[in-house]
Amino acid sequence: MKKELLIDKHGRVHNYLRLSLTERCNLRCRYCMPEEGIDLSPKNAVCTYEELLELCDIFISLGVNKIRLTGGEPLVRKEVGKIIKELGRRPIELALTTNGFLVDRYINLFKEVGLLNINVSLDTLSPEKFVLITRREGFQKVYDNIMLLIREGFNVKINMVLMRGINDDEVIQFAELARDLPVTVRFIEFMPFDGNRWSDGKMISAQEIRDIITAEYQLNRGTDALNDTTKHYHIPGFNGKIGIISSMSEHFCGSCNRIRLLSTGKIKNCLFSPDETDLLPPLREGYDIEPLIRNSIYRKKAQHAGMFNLAKRKNRSMITIGG
Ligand code: 5AD
Ligand code: SF4
Repeated sequence: MKKELLIDKHGRVHNYLRLSLTERCNLRCRYCMPEEGIDLSPKNAVCTYEELLELCDIFISLGVNKIRLTGGEPLVRKEVGKIIKELGRRPIELALTTNGFLVDRYINLFKEVGLLNINVSLDTLSPEKFVLITRREGFQKVYDNIMLLIREGFNVKINMVLMRGINDDEVIQFAELARDLPVTVRFIEFMPFDGNRWSDGKMISAQEIRDIITAEYQLNRGTDALNDTTKHYHIPGFNGKIGIISSMSEHFCGSCNRIRLLSTGKIKNCLFSPDETDLLPPLREGYDIEPLIRNSIYRKKAQHAGMFNLAKRKNRSMITIGG
């Protein structure tokens, strides 16, 4: 029997699951990880590979048709190969957000299962600044892996989180990556999460990003897909596209279709919501978790209202949510 879709009280259909495979990461980005690191969840509180697949299958039976693997860094999870292989067989669009570091290790598998949509985070084109932002060496590896994905025909998006005084002098250089390369370069407004020292002064707004680019180039507004969080633009003569994700200044909650499932089996009905529902204990005890999922989605708020008050609100560190 066909089940009813996951619809919230504002009528939004939830068909997109962002699945965090792990809280671990091989980088330590300042905007994502607190200085002192995080306490990792105890091993028995993390979903096993089988439990993750079981949860995914439940979500798929409820109408989810797109799953994006996130982290921490999804590719550091030991069973990531098996997970990708299994999910590759499900009737869904499978996508990945990664820091790019381990991409060369898995690229053949991505091709084999048709995982073609890959977002790679890169916040600077300077190797020295890379160390400053991520607290790790690795610029060349990440850059080479991005080029590898592009050469191999993947649909690549480069995610750059803009922070004033840190990498806002690189907007044009990043935009120019889209001149020759068939990539989408996406500029992301810096968002507040626990331990990332957010301040509204550090955030570069979408309007500011547009102003910086239009001082040099003609920036034509393109078209966006339904439920897209990105506003697309095109510079005449450029091969690739420019995207701006204005999570803070111009929110896109009205068309939100996202559910977040953490590696601990908790679902979050909004990136900014402290409201979490733990599916793992009831799953382990054999209860029907469908009503828990429906309830969580149903009570989702219309929007993360009062954007700039978000900074004062308690939330997790980004590392455990995965974006
Ligand atoms: N603000 C905006 N984007 C963030 N990301 C991580 N932390 C933040 C933050 N504080 C981005 C990463 C990655 C995606 C998963 O989320 O750069 O591209
Ligand atoms: Fe790791 Fe991505 Fe967080 Fe950086 S932003 S610490 S790469 S999960």
